[in-house]
Amino acid sequence: MHGAHWYHGRIYRRYIDPRLDRTRQLIAEMVQPDSCVLEVGSGTGALAMQLASRCRSVVGLDASAKMIRVAERARRGHPHGGRVQFLHADAARMDRMVRGHFDFAVASLFLHTLDEARRRSVLRQMQSLADRLILADVDAAAQTGTERLARGAVELAAGLQHFRHWALFLRQGGLRALVEHAHLDVERTELDERFGTLVMRTRPSRSKEKGSPS
Ligand SMILES: C[S@@+](CC[C@H](N)C(=O)[O-])C[C@H]1O[C@@H](n2cnc3c(N)ncnc32)[C@H](O)[C@@H]1O
Repeated sequence: MHGAHWYHGRIYRRYIDPRLDRTRQLIAEMVQPDSCVLEVGSGTGALAMQLASRCRSVVGLDASAKMIRVAERARRGHPHGGRVQFLHADAARMDRMVRGHFDFAVASLFLHTLDEARRRSVLRQMQSLADRLILADVDAAAQTGTERLARGAVELAAGLQHFRHWALFLRQGGLRALVEHAHLDVERTELDERFGTLVMRTRPSRSKEKGSPS
């Protein structure tokens, strides 16, 4: 399974989580109340716990034991923790690990961490497990040259392989290109300008549903 990084767990909760408030708020606003939600790459569980107050159930899945430990601690101390379950699992195998069908599958700042083949496979599995997807990730278009350099330095600090995945994700057009390639219809798009995150709510393409050629 893809292992833990040095910044996972408490470091992520302390230094990254607070900067993602707006991104998470935008995601939460796209989730209909009383939904069943699957969150892939759920990290410290901050979004899952935020969603727990207004959703029927939330399943968070993450490959990092450190992240799962921090998320479990948050879940146990939360008044709606009973609605949340965290799974320590590789998203590449989630169609075999996760039971049931969901209203929404969410991936927040997760897809850019994967290599291309895994990214496409994970997206396909998310599509098979949920009616709608909410995808939030670094916006390929919004960053100027200097911003991208600064962001690149941060991504490099996360490791060379992580940096390569991030750079390729942006070169290939980021979230918008991924969504288009997967034939998803975009229902809503928002931008967290502070963190540079694009948030898109999608559903399977209507033309695809009707079986027209793509
Ligand atoms: C950049 S963090 C994002 C965490 C959280 N979604 C957020 O918005 O803050 C990426 C997360 O994806 C998880 N991850 C990476 N590869 C994974 C995989 N193959 N399966 C499941 N989780 C994975 C990492 O452990 C990490 O928690």
